[in-house]
Amino acid sequence: MKVRRWMTAGAVAVATVAALNTVPATAGKPYDPTAQTLGALGLRHGLQVGTAVNMDALNDADDPQYRKIAATEFASVTAENVMKWESLEPTRGNYNWGPADQLVDFAKRNRQSVRGHVLVWHNQLPAWLTSGVADGSISKQELRELLRKHITTVAKRYKGKIWQWDVVNEAVSDPWDTPPTLHYKGFWAENLGPGYIADAFRWARAADPKALLFYNDYNIEAFGSGNPADDKTQFVYDMVKKLRAQGVPIDGVGAQGHLGTQYGNFNTFQVTEALKKFTSLGVATAFTEVDVRSQMTEGVQAGNSEEINPRLQASAANFSVLMKACLAVRSCLSYTVWGFSDNHSWVPGWFDDPPEGLATIYDENYQPKLAYHEIKSDLIFAGPPFVLPRLAPKPRR
Ligand code: XIL
Repeated sequence: MKVRRWMTAGAVAVATVAALNTVPATAGKPYDPTAQTLGALGLRHGLQVGTAVNMDALNDADDPQYRKIAATEFASVTAENVMKWESLEPTRGNYNWGPADQLVDFAKRNRQSVRGHVLVWHNQLPAWLTSGVADGSISKQELRELLRKHITTVAKRYKGKIWQWDVVNEAVSDPWDTPPTLHYKGFWAENLGPGYIADAFRWARAADPKALLFYNDYNIEAFGSGNPADDKTQFVYDMVKKLRAQGVPIDGVGAQGHLGTQYGNFNTFQVTEALKKFTSLGVATAFTEVDVRSQMTEGVQAGNSEEINPRLQASAANFSVLMKACLAVRSCLSYTVWGFSDNHSWVPGWFDDPPEGLATIYDENYQPKLAYHEIKSDLIFAGPPFVLPRLAPKPRR
């Protein structure tokens, strides 16, 4: 009996491996996984590998490589900026849907899913909103109503076209903020109190019943002390637990995955552990904005390969840690890079003292870097029994 059961399990495993690897050879050529895209390789696991898209680069006729890679290499796309409030409603009541619509159409043409980013965030808000609150011409009550209207209008417009929405982004402080005890930070918490988070998820659900609704944040890739006063991952875990207990329709937690090679960083097991703990709350998980930056000291900028190579290797290792952890946990539905090439990365513009860069998986000339090859090999060589089809939750009501 024992032997038979073992044999059955063995047969299933062999059949599964066969199903995953037997792709019909085209034109007599054997299947070569290294010639597949990241998107296609991810889909073998039911995992969507995606990228943030910069619309200026996408529309730049002199930069055709950008569009080509964005269209072919990835299964999913995220608007890097054009779905943010300042972009959608630059002046009160006047919506600028063009660029966001264009991205949604682009995704449809290329059979890609869309991660909506972002409904509620304290950054990139329109000036009319923030200055109206600052000068008292927009009351707290009106502000809450404006937020409800914004979420409803945007989520309804793209209803049925968005796979995952980042409903609330970066609501929690960091240990270097004041006060250092972790707390709800920023414009929305300051003006409406933390209750805006539950409201936002409820309003988003009412507007789009089918999208998976995510809380998204950085520095939540692994647990630290376990004390919510200084461990951001623990703070977010406790928050999600509370929201779920209250019946708030939150379906997922996105860890942004903005890492840097100058930090200690995590091993695969620490990250896997964090994904599993979030999963135990009944939510999906995702890596939503992965990039791994490095400090650009004099030697690197001078092009010294002995300075550049360790950075490329450390960056690749970190990309790979997140990919392996994602592959190992069935709730991890997507792995999105925050831009795919160093010539269109937000990093050099944002981290300039000291200057940082080299954060993405392709170099400035669209040549795949070690990080690209390493996450590709993770996707190719991961298999049963450690990798299984993804399990998506039903959108919560
Ligand atoms: C960044 C964009 O990449 C930049 O182009 C923009 O100037 C600022 O915002 N976390 C997020 C993203 O959730 O929206 C941010 O995107 C990067 C950090």
